[in-house]
Amino acid sequence: MEKKDKVLFFDTTLRDGEQSPGASMNLKEKLLVANQLAALGVDIIEAGFPISSPGDFEAVKTIAQQVKGSVIAGLCRASEKDIKVCWDAIKYTKKPRIHIFIATSDLHIEKKLQKTRAQVLDMAVKAVKYGKSFCPDIEFSAEDAGRSDMDYLCKVVEAVIDAGAKTVNIPDTVGYTMPAEFGTKIAEIKRRVPNINKAVISVHCHNDLGLAVANSLAAIENGARQTECTINGIGERAGNASLEEIVMALTVRPRYYNVGHSINTKEIYKTSKLVSNLTGIAVQVNKAIVGANAFAHEAGIHQDGVLKDRETYEIMNPKDVGIPENSLVLGKHSGRHAFFKRIKDLGYKLSVETMELLFEKFKILADKKKVIFDDDIIALIEEDSASGCEIFSLEYVSATSGTGTIPTATVKISKNEKPAKPGTSEKIKSVSLQEAACGTGPVDAAYKAIDKITGMNLKLSDYSLRAVSSGEDALGEVQLKAEYNGMIYSGKGTSTDIVEASVKAYMQAVNKAKTFNKKIKAEC
Ligand code: KIV
Ligand code: ZN
Repeated sequence: MEKKDKVLFFDTTLRDGEQSPGASMNLKEKLLVANQLAALGVDIIEAGFPISSPGDFEAVKTIAQQVKGSVIAGLCRASEKDIKVCWDAIKYTKKPRIHIFIATSDLHIEKKLQKTRAQVLDMAVKAVKYGKSFCPDIEFSAEDAGRSDMDYLCKVVEAVIDAGAKTVNIPDTVGYTMPAEFGTKIAEIKRRVPNINKAVISVHCHNDLGLAVANSLAAIENGARQTECTINGIGERAGNASLEEIVMALTVRPRYYNVGHSINTKEIYKTSKLVSNLTGIAVQVNKAIVGANAFAHEAGIHQDGVLKDRETYEIMNPKDVGIPENSLVLGKHSGRHAFFKRIKDLGYKLSVETMELLFEKFKILADKKKVIFDDDIIALIEEDSASGCEIFSLEYVSATSGTGTIPTATVKISKNEKPAKPGTSEKIKSVSLQEAACGTGPVDAAYKAIDKITGMNLKLSDYSLRAVSSGEDALGEVQLKAEYNGMIYSGKGTSTDIVEASVKAYMQAVNKAKTFNKKIKAEC
């Protein structure tokens, strides 16, 4: 039997995805995402851009040291310094890849790089050869290939393959091309570049016109065998092609595409939740595959159809992308074993220490809430995994508001002598600080009281509140973004009390800002 072709999934959530405003993650968060990407079955994880900052270097190095199964790639420009630093970060993994890029469109060559086509070609070849002196697996990206002259692009692709590139990536950097046009470009490269069979053709599509997934699929139809994408489609500007959408198109339409892949689709939902939680970038409700409404049927005719036969209106089974059935599971009388089992059934592999800590939180929640749904448990787990090092820990908050009164809040916070890592029982010296403030509402008052304590004054740029599960006593989840010293930090908090959820989310952003500015981000 003929062996089916395979499309390689190259995930760049930790590099291009992290370039989304406010999406920056600390080391612990990046490691969590990288391990989850490996569990998802991603072939190549682009862990970061090592020369861009010491934090990025440390994150790429730690991922290379600890994450098993996938190829670990680092990005670099076509310069010896970048390549050497990239190698120093990724060399610890069994399967390292150096990813070198330089722009090939005339616009970028002339305006941005201020070079000639010949100079760029020379730089590309030299960079690949230099990279090859460290690492056998070299990927070359022709930035802005979507707007590059085809004769020149083919010449560059041929030259870098001769220099030793094993993957040639054709990015539509600004999301400019149309699907049929992009597909034709890939077919043309396949036809015109004489040594193309010595390399894998990859594509990397941005979503400025909402066509990133369509362009990636058109490229696959025309011979691309690696697709670069991100979880939830996050990334620069309008984002990158979304991994879950490409993989489900290949899975739902196997006869149309006739290509295989190694993604374990049952891990999609969990990965999406984790990334949205850690980056603070919410998934739009009508987003394909992972949006809250992706499998919701509102119209009576549709509901009737689905009840008679699911396939009338569903082309995929929610279970195939790992969406848990929202079952009523636990309550205040549930014991530790039932709780631990439910965590495992939901697909999380956590240490006993973490599960014990979560059990304490579960018991407090179960006192406030009659029934605990799977979504409540997931919210608890993800709130815990999102918390970075804590310099400030919330002790209590009390707020009053109402018609004819001035909203007032009192907040008590302990300030730790050094960052406390959540989930550890390490005792750290701390002092308790308390302040009260008035505001336009109870949440604003609480934030002002926190600012008085921390002396930091973050500027809120985004705030949203939603119910995690159903019922009057549902958990409220607050997601926010706040600016401090020109950087945007995200925060997320859950509680049955929306003021408390708001304060938890704000405290998370405050701690991220504090640890980032103290240059201790790498430890957290
Ligand atoms: O969009 C782009 O061109 C990139 C390259 C660095 C691959 O992100
Ligand atoms: Zn990109």
